[in-house]
Amino acid sequence: MKAVTWHGQRDVRVEEVPDPFVQEPTDAVIRVTTSNICGSDLHLYEPLSPFMGVGDILGHESMGQVVEVGSSVGNLKVGDRVSIPFQISCGHCWMCRQQLYTQCETTQVREQGTGAALFGFSKLYGEVAGGQAEYLRVPQAQFTHIPLPDGPPDDRFAYLSDILPTAWQGVEYAAVPEGGTLVVLGLGPIGDFACRIAQHKGYRVIGVDLVPERLARVRARGVEVVDLNEVEEIGDAIRDLTDGRGPDSVLDAVGMEAHGSPATSFVQKAAGLLPKAVSAPLMEHAGVDRLNALYSAIDIVRRGGTISLSGVYGGAADPMPLMTMFDKQIQLRMGQCNVKRWIPEIMPLLTDADPLGVDTFATHRVPLSEAPEMYRKFQQKEDGVVKVQLKPEL
Ligand SMILES: NC(=O)c1ccc[n+]([C@@H]2O[C@H](COP(=O)([O-])OP(=O)(O)OC[C@H]3O[C@@H](n4cnc5c(N)ncnc54)[C@H](O)[C@@H]3O)[C@@H](O)[C@H]2O)c1
Ligand SMILES: [Zn+2]
Ligand SMILES: [Zn+2]
Repeated sequence: MKAVTWHGQRDVRVEEVPDPFVQEPTDAVIRVTTSNICGSDLHLYEPLSPFMGVGDILGHESMGQVVEVGSSVGNLKVGDRVSIPFQISCGHCWMCRQQLYTQCETTQVREQGTGAALFGFSKLYGEVAGGQAEYLRVPQAQFTHIPLPDGPPDDRFAYLSDILPTAWQGVEYAAVPEGGTLVVLGLGPIGDFACRIAQHKGYRVIGVDLVPERLARVRARGVEVVDLNEVEEIGDAIRDLTDGRGPDSVLDAVGMEAHGSPATSFVQKAAGLLPKAVSAPLMEHAGVDRLNALYSAIDIVRRGGTISLSGVYGGAADPMPLMTMFDKQIQLRMGQCNVKRWIPEIMPLLTDADPLGVDTFATHRVPLSEAPEMYRKFQQKEDGVVKVQLKPEL
């Protein structure tokens, strides 16, 4: 089959690889009809390269049709249409019973000290072959799938594997009080959906980014936006909009890719743009640029407010302004999304009325062969790329 494989920093290729097959009684194989490129893939594309192996198959946002099943996959059967959560979880261990599916004790990658195995996500998460391919082997398939109805086009369900539940959990973890205000940092696919969800829940939402078409997309849905390029100091700008106090909650939907993206020029000006209160001692440390969005969140959130991190962070040496966090009495929640935890709440919104705008969310739908070009454009934020669906059948 054809698959998108990793070959080095900023080097992904489409290659012929062996077809996957059922290896364990709990496995299934699906024929992939849609598999998206994610902001998390950009971490593998560049900063997390040391954990990748040449030939690793990428992709963790897949959906399709079951073509083969093992003998212990429960109700799942050949022909079923399914979305595959990005994490592999058994559904019956202690962690799964707490709905902490990203911590599944059956698939935890203990050699690396990390949580549940993830599709297409480096040695850190089990080096499991991903779904940017014609076929995908699904371990723990009895639980690692979301049943879908036949009929509606893929767009309707294409974001259930990751970004819709991730944005949903990000908003939940932000613990916005009734009638409260949420600032969303980063308006990539995660931040964009988080704004839509928070708006749907009736909160005041302010989105922040620096890419014009991403700001425009979110503004077009009636969300207030702030362009980082147009403000001197983001904390002050947000306080000006929120009674001088700051918002109840901040969702960081940027993560460590604040470095290595067009945010670079912004990051290079970090000395000037970092929140005043935390900038001085931090500037002595390398790696400060990667934490730019998190530092902004700490500065922006009101005293006694909550920060929710959906953006992925790696590395251990980065300094945290603990005194400010303690003094402001900040609550902090984070983590990979426990995908299936949120599906019952999201599914009823995927109706024909389409309140979250899933039908028009993708900006690009391309064959697998265009993946290398799309990775490049997505990383460089060229060509209006926000969400790319790879379609193996095109
Ligand atoms: N927690 C989870 O389960 C989970 C799941 C999927 C993705 N993620 C993570 O969420 C993050 C966002 O993913 P995405 O697909 O939306 O990626 P993305 O890279 O397209 O979006 C990030 C956005 O942040 C903007 N940005 C950069 N620096 C900024 C700053 N300092 N302030 C405000 N905005 C800034 C960028 O311009 C970009 O639009 C990534 O770190 C990704 O790994 C987490
Ligand atoms: Zn993803
Ligand atoms: Zn489990």
